[in-house]
Amino acid sequence: MSVKELLAEHGTPEREVYFDHENSGWVPPEVVEAMLPYFNKRGYGHPSITNKPGWEAYEVIWEARKLLAEALGISSPDEVVFTHSGTEANNLAILGTALASKGRGGKIIVSAVEHLSVIFPAEFAARLTGMDVIKVPVDEEGFVDPEVLATYVSKDTVLVSVQLVNHEIGTIQNIRELAKVVKDINPDALFHTDACDALGRVNIDVRELGVDLLTVSSHKILGPKGVGALYVRKGVRLEPIVKGQLSTQTLWPGVENVPAIAGFRKALELALRDLRTRKYEIARLRDKLIDGLLSEVPHTLLNGPRGDRRSPDNVNVSFLYVEGEALTVELSLKGIYVSSGSACTSRVLEPSHVLLAIGRKHEEAHGSILFRLTRYHSEEDVEYVLSRVPEAVSRLRRISSLKPS
Ligand SMILES: Cc1ncc(COP(=O)(O)O)c(C=O)c1O
Repeated sequence: MSVKELLAEHGTPEREVYFDHENSGWVPPEVVEAMLPYFNKRGYGHPSITNKPGWEAYEVIWEARKLLAEALGISSPDEVVFTHSGTEANNLAILGTALASKGRGGKIIVSAVEHLSVIFPAEFAARLTGMDVIKVPVDEEGFVDPEVLATYVSKDTVLVSVQLVNHEIGTIQNIRELAKVVKDINPDALFHTDACDALGRVNIDVRELGVDLLTVSSHKILGPKGVGALYVRKGVRLEPIVKGQLSTQTLWPGVENVPAIAGFRKALELALRDLRTRKYEIARLRDKLIDGLLSEVPHTLLNGPRGDRRSPDNVNVSFLYVEGEALTVELSLKGIYVSSGSACTSRVLEPSHVLLAIGRKHEEAHGSILFRLTRYHSEEDVEYVLSRVPEAVSRLRRISSLKPS
């Protein structure tokens, strides 16, 4: 029986709670509202053409750049480049830097727990330019140790990329310290941070962090899919990796997705407001969910750190002796929508590279489940999860061949 047939046979669950905002999410009505006019009422023109609908479109892009600049401590909106995803922004940062310094040798350093949209372009850049790629190990909570990073940095380091918040286990890296370590050894090395999972969860100021390049993505803050952005500090030289087409931007040609940029701007406004007002409440729900799962479900491990070193919205646990994939289906029947591992790996039976990097065994990584909380989740949602998950895990364990030894 397919998953679709299974869900149909089970009928409507008592409650539906969506926790898969890591992979992609539900878009709030205010954000959809903000996008609608730009399909056919105004600003539907090409933003680089000087007719009225074109100017209006340009204004949308400029206003969104301005808000991003204000939110992230960026000195000028000109330093914000829109792409069509976080993946594209990461590719531009890594490949653009490597190609701009092609012929000079050197190395690119990334952490072992980066999103694949950083790791794969770093490996590709190495094949294109002959540079070396080095993956820096992390500790059992996912942190890069500045002293360990320092041992890899040298005068020929071209770029270092370490994410601000991990997308699977919520580890908040001390980017300020890591960037300082790199610049102290080699002031010419560029520092990039992938902040896709940090935006709206932690305060970000590029000057305080000391980074040259920083990536964000709209759908990670309940904005629409189809927009990402890269902060490129003035003076940083990147080779455009996409060529051609009319655009207001030279680093990422191709007409901008104006309705989605309008939606991203609205989502950012809401995320910044809630970062001030609801962050602690979300963290409280996170801790209630973590504590409840660890105490109610035997043989359960928390992946990643606790407290304020963990993103306020992230709960990632491994239920031993259970296949995470099977549990996502079992929980779907109860209206609880979660993911196992990250989106990029969840359709492949490869354990998450992030969980392996923090020292989890294959079987522990396979039993991992990720819950992402948002400002729209309530105490009742968390209680509903805690009332259903223990029974779902026990049922799967009863029929599983993976037994405690
Ligand atoms: C840390 C991180 N970086 C990059 C991306 C890629 O962003 P997008 O889905 O917009 O391509 C994601 C998305 O899951 C992410 O979590």
